[in-house]
Amino acid sequence: MTLTLVPITRSLSKAPFDCGYRELNHYLRHYALKNDRLSIGKTFVATTETGEVAGYLTISTAGIAAESLPEELRASLPRYPVPAMRVGKLAVDRQFQGAGVGRWLLTQAFRKAVVVSQHVGMYAVLVDAIDEKAKAFYVKYGFIPFEGHPLTLFLPVATIVAAME
Ligand SMILES: CC(C)(COP(=O)(O)OP(=O)(O)OC[C@H]1O[C@@H](n2cnc3c(N)ncnc32)[C@H](O)[C@@H]1OP(=O)(O)O)[C@@H](O)C(=O)NCCC(=O)NCCS
Repeated sequence: MTLTLVPITRSLSKAPFDCGYRELNHYLRHYALKNDRLSIGKTFVATTETGEVAGYLTISTAGIAAESLPEELRASLPRYPVPAMRVGKLAVDRQFQGAGVGRWLLTQAFRKAVVVSQHVGMYAVLVDAIDEKAKAFYVKYGFIPFEGHPLTLFLPVATIVAAME
């Protein structure tokens, strides 16, 4: 399967998308385009050779309160919030799950974070996991849960850059 990442458009066939989570399906169908145009969250869609929507991700900017980071990282950081990129949504259609689409989407998000971090200060990538099962997917890629916010996880951009070298 060859995937292409495209910005969300009105003409993409979003209605059949089903990742197994009503909230994530609903977001793609009803809010993703609107929020993309408002520049609140930019949505990118993974399409197949036949134009099917295999998955999507939505990213925006975020700030991390320094005190929410583990002590060993905090020591080298300022006390004010540090900048981040938030992967607020990431989902794969059920018929494509288990075929590497989620990993591919996350890699696309990492690439964007690395490019942006070369121009704009960005300390980490944040992800919001919808539940414990989704969290396990992110933990597999090295994401660290915030204390007190176990479904929000972060990965320093420096770690991503080092892994890509
Ligand atoms: C979680 C999700 C994004 C994973 O996407 P996917 O395309 O099925 O995953 P991939 O095929 O790319 O899997 C990549 C790797 O992650 C592992 N993986 C997949 N889902 C996992 C999970 N829930 N927990 C732990 N590992 C997981 C796979 O086994 C695979 O490991 P491998 O490289 O060692 O073989 C997808 O199942 C999904 O959309 N689920 C519903 C919505 C959701 O949970 N979104 C997540 C954030 S809100």
